[in-house]
Amino acid sequence: AWTTGHVIEEQVERIRAQVGEGTAICGLSGGVDSAVAAALVQRAIGDRLTCVYVDHGLMRQDESAQIEKAFGDSTGGAKLVVVDAEKRFLDALAGVTDPETKRKIIGREFIRVFEQAQADILRGQGVLEGDGEGGLETAGPDGAGAKTFLVQGTLYPDVVESGGGEGAANIKSHHNVGGLPEDLSFELVEPLRALFKDEVRAVGSELGLPDAIVWRQPFPGPGLGIRIIGEVTKERLDILRAADAIARAEMTAAGLDRDIWQCPVVLLADVRSVGVQGDGRTYGHPVVLRPVTSDDAMTADWAKVPYEVLSRISTRITNEVAEINRVVLDVTSKPPGTIEWE
Ligand code: XMP
Repeated sequence: AWTTGHVIEEQVERIRAQVGEGTAICGLSGGVDSAVAAALVQRAIGDRLTCVYVDHGLMRQDESAQIEKAFGDSTGGAKLVVVDAEKRFLDALAGVTDPETKRKIIGREFIRVFEQAQADILRGQGVLEGDGEGGLETAGPDGAGAKTFLVQGTLYPDVVESGGGEGAANIKSHHNVGGLPEDLSFELVEPLRALFKDEVRAVGSELGLPDAIVWRQPFPGPGLGIRIIGEVTKERLDILRAADAIARAEMTAAGLDRDIWQCPVVLLADVRSVGVQGDGRTYGHPVVLRPVTSDDAMTADWAKVPYEVLSRISTRITNEVAEINRVVLDVTSKPPGTIEWE
């Protein structure tokens, strides 16, 4: 019979068999899939796993700290490298307003930073030689020699969608933008390949990951970068983070987290409208609340969040976030509207 206990035992054995004496690297995104994959591999090979979390500065309030803490608490022995890359991402995004251009820039910078972190780790392990300036080389027979694996949180639906066959694929570091040698390839470890999302959550809970990660709603890779309509700046991010934190706190307090698929909060940074506060006129920005229900994000309906909850969110945001003087609700289904605004 299928039990989470069996799945964990079986996967831990498989990972041990696959990795042998090798080492593994796993990128953490903050989402449940990469966290559960990492926790399984940590259980199998302990501190021969190194996790990498690239903080692009586009996460929500306190989120990066929570990821670090949750990870440390639940997977005791795993090593975690946190790369603070906020400045790099914001510099790259300066002046950019087009949504797809933002995505491309964020994706490109992400790969660069992640590959640099990988190269540093591999150099530390003696798998790579060189200082990284004139390029790195795979250490020959004199090097550490142990194989390095890349952990990915691929789920069963992803495998089916891509028509993928049996696992253990190799991926080449084909981008060659982050200082990895071109001939370096990683064998993939994909411990979630047979699982559906609900099973991944069950395994995560069993492994002791906190609810905030196990039940985390979907959040896009480009983060708040695609929730600021207009140019992304540190100041705008901070405004959006403040508003978003209030919306999330009130949704959680109302017990709505598991009923709602996700609730993007979107800052219309280039729009201003007149408001009034006390005796003074304000000329501030609107934020849009976009709560949706969905099964798979392919289609969605706007969520009928109780008026009292919406009212509390609106009152708090306009009272507590000085730059925002209007809160609007998106009542569009998908299609025709996408879930995100960009
Ligand atoms: P849309 O806006 O297309 O979103 O209805 C569908 C789901 O995908 C998420 N999303 C993204 N996730 N990178 C991601 O990792 C992206 O660029 C991206 N764009 C949208 C969105 O949050 C929703 O869950």
